[in-house]
Amino acid sequence: MTAMGMGTTLRNQLNKRRSVVRGVGACLPERVATNADLAKIIDTSDDWIVQRTGIRQRHIAGPGETTSTLATKAAERALAAAGLTAADIDLIIVATSTPDYTFPATATQVQAALGITRGVAFDVQAVCSGFVFAVATADKFLASGSHQRALVIGAETFSRILDWEDRTTCVLFGDGAGAIVLEAREDSGAAGVIGSRLRSDGRHRAKLYVDGGPSTTQTVGKLRMSGREVFKHAVGMVTDVMTDVFEDTGTTAADLDWFVPHQANERIIDASAAKLGIPLNKIVKTVALHGNTSAASIPLALSVAVDDGRIQPGQLVMIEAMGGGFTWGAALIRW
Ligand code: ACO
Repeated sequence: MTAMGMGTTLRNQLNKRRSVVRGVGACLPERVATNADLAKIIDTSDDWIVQRTGIRQRHIAGPGETTSTLATKAAERALAAAGLTAADIDLIIVATSTPDYTFPATATQVQAALGITRGVAFDVQAVCSGFVFAVATADKFLASGSHQRALVIGAETFSRILDWEDRTTCVLFGDGAGAIVLEAREDSGAAGVIGSRLRSDGRHRAKLYVDGGPSTTQTVGKLRMSGREVFKHAVGMVTDVMTDVFEDTGTTAADLDWFVPHQANERIIDASAAKLGIPLNKIVKTVALHGNTSAASIPLALSVAVDDGRIQPGQLVMIEAMGGGFTWGAALIRW
């Protein structure tokens, strides 16, 4: 069959320069706050938090720990897992909404901490969807031939933008970082990022936002959320983009080996999986242990499932997220 005679999907899959996952790493702050710990400082309970969210504990950054220090450690671990060194990297993308500073980009601080002086480093800001946006962005850089190996990092210290007197938000979030190394390959076989879809709709700003910023209040601000409103939109949005990715790539939910969603809330995760017919035993869940770490949650979950041997080479892994903006997206990766 000639290339002309092939379907677009198959032709794309055969010809593409692909972004292949070489390694995964993570870093969590040492300090852990359980639900019982939070119940000592605000009017809440372990029962309420577990029932509504599935969260049992979260990690909280301590003195000296920042988004860039967590990101750098996760990156070093991903490089070690890949059998690579910092010198092999020519692209760093950090997904974060809690940068060390308004500028420069956290990615450039990670670049400096790793001793990298070539290539480019920049941040993407899509709140909880940030890691999916960063993977899709890195994939397009690598597929274009402009770059060879990327560190794609999700890193957050949401504890620093929480209103610790607002029980409706402060119990939900945690800190951490996760990283993957993506490498461009012409001969990857079936492996690599095989599809991604990103979306945003700025009309939803008021449902989930931070009430400060350099150009408005000249303060950092605190996270504000209308949880019910977010919940109402989340399942529909993430299942829509996953369906788009399945269609783009000629796959179905039945082909998935692992579903690695953003870890915001167990009820959103389970409802999204149920809507697409993904069985519970194919879902990687870390929400109980990490809480919602925003852009870090997916690479943290990937790291857990790679380290414990669940995710294996050749398997098909769907990542998806939805967050402030709203932003939402999904990416399908053949490991
Ligand atoms: N502890 C005890 N009680 C609480 C707490 C708390 N931490 N927070 C709220 N309550 C109370 C409320 O005051 C309310 O009391 P009332 O009935 O006397 O007024 C009651 O619990 C119910 O509050 P709701 O907000 O209606 O609770 P709901 O069932 O909607 O659950 C939740 C709240 C968990 C935030 C839910 O709406 C949700 O999961 N939304 C999705 C939001 C989310 O996950 N966002 C993450 C960021 S975005 C993203 O990552 C996708």
